[in-house]
Amino acid sequence: MNVIILGIESSCDDTSAAIFKNGKILSNCVANQDAHKQYGGIVPEVASRAHQINIIPVVDKAIKDAGIDKHKIDAIAFTLGPGLIGSLIVGVSFAKSFALSLEIPMIEVNHMQAHVLAHFAEDPKPEFPFLCLTVSGGHTQIVLVRDFLDMELIGTTIDDAAGEAFDKTGKLLGLDYPAGPLIDKLAKKGNPVFKFTEPKIQDLDFSFSGLKTSILYFLKKQLKENPDFIKENLNDICASVQDRIVSILINKLKMAVSKTGIKEICIAGGVSANSALRATLETTGKEEGWNTFIPNFEFCTDNAAMIAVTGYYKFLQKEFTDQSISPVARYQL
Ligand code: KG4
Ligand code: ZN
Repeated sequence: MNVIILGIESSCDDTSAAIFKNGKILSNCVANQDAHKQYGGIVPEVASRAHQINIIPVVDKAIKDAGIDKHKIDAIAFTLGPGLIGSLIVGVSFAKSFALSLEIPMIEVNHMQAHVLAHFAEDPKPEFPFLCLTVSGGHTQIVLVRDFLDMELIGTTIDDAAGEAFDKTGKLLGLDYPAGPLIDKLAKKGNPVFKFTEPKIQDLDFSFSGLKTSILYFLKKQLKENPDFIKENLNDICASVQDRIVSILINKLKMAVSKTGIKEICIAGGVSANSALRATLETTGKEEGWNTFIPNFEFCTDNAAMIAVTGYYKFLQKEFTDQSISPVARYQL
């Protein structure tokens, strides 16, 4: 069967469109928004307006890059949530109008489920059942994945997400938003000489707000003694913070493996682009006998390829939605 799915993603600050045909990604276009840098975080109103500007050119480019005729698209998959409501409205409304004009069905997609299924955008693919650590700007989850559409949340953050820990630390250090990629880059030139305590959180849940507070007090104390402390030690501070965030994540993964007995391990979400997390997962995987799966960068951060892939598996199950649908800001996995 020849199936072509158009995926649309607009849950946060990236506008993205992708074409998935018979198990292959033909195109994956992303328009990033630089407008938020000056505010030190995402401004929802600014994000919605940028999506409005970007969505038509991005979808147009995805179709052109894929080299297909838009009339050959079988269904439009779009992010229903979770995300910023104004951002989601742009993608959902566009999907509705385009589906109406092409007279094709629509498929709603949970953004967090899509991050997990990003692993099916390329080879090698994990085998079921597997565990996925999904770490992004808004979420930190350990998901037990039994099948494409059968997932169970077995661990989550009780406060901040891992990406937020990077971004909020970056703000304390005077770095631009999003700070995750910058901390990653600076950490490469430093050493984890400063020790931040690992929070003691029950079971497979996470907490990152305590870490942020301890970094804040540490910096305040050091700056009192040396006003240039951050400037003089930026690389080492970044390496230390990153080291602790990575160890929190990896230790919980170890716990999840011992609880479930599953050794097929994936990481997903924006923070899985972090080079220390990727390297540590690989070495831990070798030591522990895990089969590890790390997506290419373009499938880690927000992208429509993962939406199209998820849409494809829902298409096979005929899980369609209709024009009465509206976005859901807090959409559980
Ligand atoms: O999945 P994503 O693109 O968007 C959300 O759904 O949140 O994740 C964005 C998050 C941001 O917090 C960003 O700082 C973080 O991913 N991030 C990184 C890296 N690249 C992106 N964090 C650490 N190291 C990176 N290389
Ligand atoms: Zn995301």
